[in-house]
Amino acid sequence: MTAARVHVARDHEAASRAAAEEFVRQIADRSRNATTFVALSGGSTPKRMYQMLAGDEFRPMVTWGQVHFFWSDERPVPPTDPDSNYRMASEALLQPLGIAPGQIHRMRGEDLDLPAAARAYEEEMARAFGVQWKSHPPRFDLVLLGLGADGHTASLFPRTVALQERRHWVVANPVPQLRTTRLTMTYPVLNAARCVLFLVTGRDKAEAVARVFSPTGAVEEVPARGVCPHDGELVWFLDEAAARRLDG
Ligand code: 6PG
Repeated sequence: MTAARVHVARDHEAASRAAAEEFVRQIADRSRNATTFVALSGGSTPKRMYQMLAGDEFRPMVTWGQVHFFWSDERPVPPTDPDSNYRMASEALLQPLGIAPGQIHRMRGEDLDLPAAARAYEEEMARAFGVQWKSHPPRFDLVLLGLGADGHTASLFPRTVALQERRHWVVANPVPQLRTTRLTMTYPVLNAARCVLFLVTGRDKAEAVARVFSPTGAVEEVPARGVCPHDGELVWFLDEAAARRLDG
């Protein structure tokens, strides 16, 4: 596993703030001079961090007009659905920042043909990065990820087929344990990033965090273990509750 920087903060608020500081540290300089690419995580944990980034303290630190926003995964719901990862980030971050539509690249979770939606998202990524999708995976400046209590990240769930994908950047991943199929970025894209930032808080994640950092354990069972940026940084922000099973 790539050597990770691990920061443990007192609680969810402190961990969110530390993660927001890292988010800015990772992209502030680049955004002043170049188009900057960020993949947002879903779920509920990052909402407070997103709100902070859009707030008076952090907002002025980034040239947001240069930042393009993608998602690491999306549920099979419309963008107006309470479960939509797009909706949460749009309400907490993108709308408050006034991000232009051309900078927002939403996964079409509502499409009935999710494999086609995955292909379309790869094409959109290729256009935004100015590459051919059959080339090497695009290199995101920053990928934000969360961790499920079962060890999943993005929508890479234990024992699902997307864990084996080495060519496509985005796939429709059947998740039998949830009786659903989700769109998700794959390890080739996640591991091409300049920086991957995990934000994980709460007692219910302590076991999964311990399994990620255990010296043994199969990626198949703990998919977050498979996130190891080849030539980039891996940073974890935890609160004390989520870190309580870590040694040392
Ligand atoms: C999703 C996320 C997923 C999330 C974890 C943690 O669509 O659910 O992308 O990987 O990060 O499930 O979710 P919470 O932050 O809600 O605990």
